Amino acid sequence: MLEKLELHRRDFDSRIGNVTTPDQLKQLRTDFLGKKGCVSLALKELREFSPGEKRALGKHINDLKEHIELLIQEKSAVVQESSDRAAGSDAFDLSLPGRREMDGHLHPITQVMEELIAIFVGLGFSVEEGPEIESDYYNFEALNIPKDHPARDMQDTFYVEDEVVLRTHTSPVQIRVMEKRKPPLRFIAPGRVYRCDSDVSHTPQFHQVEGLMVDRSVSFGHLKGIMDIFLHQVFGKQTALRFRPSFFPFTCPSAEVDIQCVICLGKGCRVCKQTGWVEILGAGMVDPAVFGFVGYDPEEWTGLAFGLGIERIAMLKYGINDIRLFFENDLRFLRQF
Ligand code: PHE
Repeated sequence: MLEKLELHRRDFDSRIGNVTTPDQLKQLRTDFLGKKGCVSLALKELREFSPGEKRALGKHINDLKEHIELLIQEKSAVVQESSDRAAGSDAFDLSLPGRREMDGHLHPITQVMEELIAIFVGLGFSVEEGPEIESDYYNFEALNIPKDHPARDMQDTFYVEDEVVLRTHTSPVQIRVMEKRKPPLRFIAPGRVYRCDSDVSHTPQFHQVEGLMVDRSVSFGHLKGIMDIFLHQVFGKQTALRFRPSFFPFTCPSAEVDIQCVICLGKGCRVCKQTGWVEILGAGMVDPAVFGFVGYDPEEWTGLAFGLGIERIAMLKYGINDIRLFFENDLRFLRQF
């Protein structure tokens, strides 16, 4: 019996040296410790011995069992680790430094967009949307910009097909909403727009917020009041603004709204080209010709409209001098907001 146990031990020791996979180890455990394994068989054979021999032999069998258990346990850790590594699985290596979860946040343009929307919602405006791929009719024609009108040159247009463009402004949403609904109306339309243009203050794609209010006796006074409240909320109460006469085919009269330069506070700097003022948006009273396209009676209804560039506002708000930074997705830039 003692010799047999010694043979089992040697047999086990040599076999465990060759084990490389969890499956082989499992087989080895069954062969030695399983119900029909050699340790169990040896214990059964004990019955044939006298009580004194039983005790001595039993101790040897237990030693062997402990020896086998210990080595299998040690081997199991080694085999598991190498099989994990081979599978490239997510083995847990306690010696590696921890991986930090990085908090994301909204893009600065989205943040400014949401801020603007909240201000207008507070003034009773609803939020509308329109398609970015737009027909010539909505982008130009119905906004009183006929085919050969010089105003078409103001906006370098990306053409998708003959009569299909990437919208150059959010103004076509004015037409789409007016076609669908009767006045009174009061909504904004935020969204992406496209122009074939690229330098420090222009990118081929940028964002605008359009605004339209149509009601009985809407006046230029309402436009001034809304712009006042809006720009003071964005840039602070101390910010002066001024209206300059301008031209858009779809508004009359038209104005460009400037704010006092927030970089130099009106003293004159590079950003405001030494004028102390920066242009911030276009606006005006809806041209009666536009009402003609959507079947509103210009004798009964008047409207105000405005359109502003989100990037421009974000640049002034945060003192950013290159619009392209918004679209490069450099985290060193984006993390600052
Ligand atoms: N759509 C004009 C632009 O993109 C802005 C504008 C909108 C002007 C509404 C007047 C009224 O330049």
